[in-house]
Amino acid sequence: MKSDTCRVCGTPISKFMTFGRMPIANGFLMAEEIKDEYFFELAPAFCESCNMFQLVEQPEPEKMFHGHYAFYSSTSRYMQAHFAHFAASVMDGPLAGRTDPFVVELGSNDGIMLQNFHQRGMRHLGVEPSVNVAEAARAKGINTVGAFFGRDLAGKITAEHGQADAILAANVMCHIPDLNGVAEGVARLLKPDGVFIFEDPYLGDMIAKTSYDQIYDEHVFIFSVTSVARAFASHGLEVIDAEPQITHGGSMRYTLSPKGARPVSERVAAQVAKEHEQGLQKPQTYLGFKRNCETSREKLMAVLETARKDGKRVVGYGATSKSTTVTCYCGITPTHVQFISDTTPIKQGKLSPGAHIPVKPYSEFTRAWPDYALLFAWNHAAEIREKETAFAAAGGRWIVYVPEVGIVA
Ligand code: TYD
Ligand code: ZN
Repeated sequence: MKSDTCRVCGTPISKFMTFGRMPIANGFLMAEEIKDEYFFELAPAFCESCNMFQLVEQPEPEKMFHGHYAFYSSTSRYMQAHFAHFAASVMDGPLAGRTDPFVVELGSNDGIMLQNFHQRGMRHLGVEPSVNVAEAARAKGINTVGAFFGRDLAGKITAEHGQADAILAANVMCHIPDLNGVAEGVARLLKPDGVFIFEDPYLGDMIAKTSYDQIYDEHVFIFSVTSVARAFASHGLEVIDAEPQITHGGSMRYTLSPKGARPVSERVAAQVAKEHEQGLQKPQTYLGFKRNCETSREKLMAVLETARKDGKRVVGYGATSKSTTVTCYCGITPTHVQFISDTTPIKQGKLSPGAHIPVKPYSEFTRAWPDYALLFAWNHAAEIREKETAFAAAGGRWIVYVPEVGIVA
């Protein structure tokens, strides 16, 4: 689906750069599927009118979220803890003291967040269109409806369960092209004093760190407080809090409620001011970002080419969605990176999208240490570096590219 107008406000938009032909970021495939591999042009635009950063083209949702969606939230220990904290902050914050509250999560994946509410016996409902991950949630006893959220589903849920005290979403809102439809659904489903809390990768971090790998098919939007406030205002919802998170390499957690229903934190205006200072409202900022992406690509390929010439063995660490943008945009091939180690069984034995680098189980990484590990899962760097002391002790080094390209011990 190509859009030459802003998905939120309808103003004409055009791409300020292109990452070129790109496959589905989570589209791990077998060799015989290469001939049918789907490609689209990955190119971002910035709407000068409402400040929404967005893709000009996005594949049909059914191509991305389906019966074999390769992404299971619960693979990271750190993310388990993150969502336990997130859930606790909702239970002890806006839900505290409420009788029989009802919590809905949009894009509940394998239940990593809702399991915390379930354990406390709270009424909850997950909405998850990807069949396999929804099944994994149900197996844990988490109520899950297999569907895409929008106006209609909001009506159905309200009719069956009543309105929600809290609606949550993590790394989901930025996936949904019809943001207005979802906002309308949220406004319909939410109690007059309810809260809608969601978090997603943050535009300010992406620009500051040149972490362009946040840009891939699923992330149709990269939000800022400014753009979120504008997008939801027309649906009667206002941002009452904005809290930076370290997850996914820098995220923002937005809390919204029906306008006037709850006090607005000082953090909101402070963050908007910070965005202004950073120049997130200026088109020139995005041209600077484009140049930074090009420089990052040149430097990373120089490191990988040198390693290849020197006969070094390089292995990728973490077959992330983000790595698809990096490998395809930079032109990384199996001659640079022998394989990508990943702990997710559904990805193993397959090829990475576009670059067709084999994905192998973690045991292949530990079996024979490579000279270098290219840290594709850089958002989990702390957890990984802590775990991989034996690799470091054996002289293994990490190739990193966010915020700067380099080789680190
Ligand atoms: P994720 O952080 O969700 O990134 P993205 O949103 O870009 O897909 O994915 C992390 C991937 O890295 C996932 O496939 C699991 C893998 N992984 C490992 O193989 N080992 C690890 O120690 C960690 C933390 C992740
Ligand atoms: Zn707009």
